[in-house]
Amino acid sequence: MTNLSGVGPLFDATGQVERLSRDNYRFLQRYVLDGSGIVIDSEKDYLFEARLMPLVRRENLRSLNDLCALIKATAATPIRQEILEAMTTNETLFFRDMAPFEALRNSILPELKAKCGPAKRLRLWSAAASSGQEAYSLAMLLLEGGFQNWNLQIAGTDIAESILERARTGRYSQLEVNRGLPVHYLIKYFTRHGLEWQLKDEIRRMVRFERLDLRRATAGPGPFDIVFCRNVLIYFDPTTKRQILAAIQSVLAPGGYLSLGAAETIINLNETLEKCVFGKATLYRNPE
Ligand SMILES: C[S@@+](CC[C@H](N)C(=O)[O-])C[C@H]1O[C@@H](n2cnc3c(N)ncnc32)[C@H](O)[C@@H]1O
Repeated sequence: MTNLSGVGPLFDATGQVERLSRDNYRFLQRYVLDGSGIVIDSEKDYLFEARLMPLVRRENLRSLNDLCALIKATAATPIRQEILEAMTTNETLFFRDMAPFEALRNSILPELKAKCGPAKRLRLWSAAASSGQEAYSLAMLLLEGGFQNWNLQIAGTDIAESILERARTGRYSQLEVNRGLPVHYLIKYFTRHGLEWQLKDEIRRMVRFERLDLRRATAGPGPFDIVFCRNVLIYFDPTTKRQILAAIQSVLAPGGYLSLGAAETIINLNETLEKCVFGKATLYRNPE
């Protein structure tokens, strides 16, 4: 694997070797950190080449060094945002890991149904929504759980506007619906459009997608009964993780639940959320 920190070769469009200079490597690291909070350390530096070379070629530049020169010279061009979005990892799927969704179906939604029954209102937040599969999985789960006549609001947010545009369409490839979506959900909530599958409006209408940098989430809407903030904290440094967890807790209703990714934890990052184990899933509850 090419190491970009000034050691390995980097081929430009003409086949000549041009290394990303050490200064520009540090510049890109800082640019991505400041713009999104994502830490690209030396083990992940191959991502600069993998993710940014398509932009280099599209702009008819010779190398990542030229791309750095371009963003240093221009204050507000779309390419600055495109670079940040290219460096995000958007991997997602319907009902990812299944266990937190089973915890919702078997324990948490029945609990909230009893608790919030008089108001008949639930608010959920998919806080790093990517192309929308997580938020739509929550929407389908609510309808399956008998919440049809409730006032349901699901927010889907992400830092990358381009991925949110995809999410809003509710249109997925065969490969995407093959990943994690139970067949009866596909039949019930999607219609086929050629090689793709379109989510029905009854589900799409339940989710509102908006751009939000999680590091600025302090003044977000809320309170939320359930927050899914999954597979995003892993990209941040401990200070940013702590700050984001505090911001989420501040918009989590008393007795509300937070789900993190399978490889993520609140240990050493938050002292007040309560750990709750439901079968194979661990969620965190905001004390009442
Ligand atoms: C790996 S996806 C996780 C998607 C989904 N939550 C899941 O678990 O399948 C991570 C998402 O976090 C988003 N992201 C990265 N940095 C962010 C930030 N500072 N604020 C909000 N979203 C961010 C990325 O754009 C990407 O769509």
